[in-house]
Amino acid sequence: MPALVTHVENGRYSLNRVRQNMIGCYSNMNKNDLDVAFSSKSNDWETPLDFFNGLNSIYDFTLDPCATAETTKCPKFFTERENGLLQSWRGERVFVNPPYSNIGAWAEKSYREYMRENVTVVMLIPARTDTKYFQKHCMEATSLGFIQGRLKFDNRTLPTWMADGSHKKSPAPYPSVLVIFDPMERGTPQTLKRFSQKGLLI
Ligand SMILES: C[S@@+](CC[C@H](N)C(=O)[O-])C[C@H]1O[C@@H](n2cnc3c(N)ncnc32)[C@H](O)[C@@H]1O
Repeated sequence: MPALVTHVENGRYSLNRVRQNMIGCYSNMNKNDLDVAFSSKSNDWETPLDFFNGLNSIYDFTLDPCATAETTKCPKFFTERENGLLQSWRGERVFVNPPYSNIGAWAEKSYREYMRENVTVVMLIPARTDTKYFQKHCMEATSLGFIQGRLKFDNRTLPTWMADGSHKKSPAPYPSVLVIFDPMERGTPQTLKRFSQKGLLI
């Protein structure tokens, strides 16, 4: 069981309500763009850099196994072509913000690398605690850190991303959670409290 479960999400949010709210922020996007942007059809929601840097100050990550050369958070990374799910993560400290179309496979891979190879893995995923993968694999984490408020993910595949890298930022229409598999138990309530003092965790 996780050492730290700080919050349990109840109820569901209304997708129609979310879409209506977002139309104001993405007024130059059509309905199809909006549907893709806030569904698992987009695999490209990038971790906000300030959020990653806070986590990295605790874990000193060495591998981003699901990335592109543009979006990777670590010098060592795997792309879709190399398929990070099929690579060994042995000896690495791994940060995983998985493609949303396939979160379950990444949760299983993270759990197995931790169990078999003693790998430290921190996953950032939507806090969908009712999913099979959350119940089966994420609940085996050494810690769960439920994130306060909503993260503002970046997505350079959207039409709102400008050539100079400037873009509109809007909060995700779902809460997020850090699923931490850490043989060293750095994700103890004490270390997470350090992170939470930065106002990021509940
Ligand atoms: C949610 S984004 C995260 C990007 C970046 N790692 C970050 O944290 O900002 C997921 C990335 O995984 C890549 N991807 C999809 N399937 C993959 C696979 N099987 N192996 C490695 N990367 C994959 C996608 O191209 C996408 O860039």
